[in-house]
Amino acid sequence: MTYLVTENCIKCKHMDCVEVCPVDCFYEGENMLVINPDECIDCGVCVPECPVDAIIPDAEASNHSVNLLELNSKYSLIWPVITEKKEAPADAADWDGVENKFEEHFSEEPGEGD
Ligand code: SF4
Ligand code: F3S
Repeated sequence: MTYLVTENCIKCKHMDCVEVCPVDCFYEGENMLVINPDECIDCGVCVPECPVDAIIPDAEASNHSVNLLELNSKYSLIWPVITEKKEAPADAADWDGVENKFEEHFSEEPGEGD
């Protein structure tokens, strides 16, 4: 199994999660992060760090309309690694729970990484 970042990370991007990951397996897109499923050791310590509950075990991924395993797998190979928290977007709180985030707001562009 692995943990996965969900679409609720989009435009929230708090980045508290990256500070606790023992294997540095978070990767940064322009407006969300993903986990590399092959590197994640399933420790679960990142889950309570996310203020918007955007990290889930893969067993819960079927509840989401987006294929989260595919999303995390694909973009973790394209985007740069991130291990240090940066400043979250000023309007991050406004985006928690917004519907259709993936369809309307997902960006394929990479973030800057570390
Ligand atoms: Fe990193 Fe553990 Fe979270 Fe996997 S579950 S992304 S290894 S902190
Ligand atoms: Fe995203 Fe939560 Fe991390 S909003 S960047 S998964 S702390």
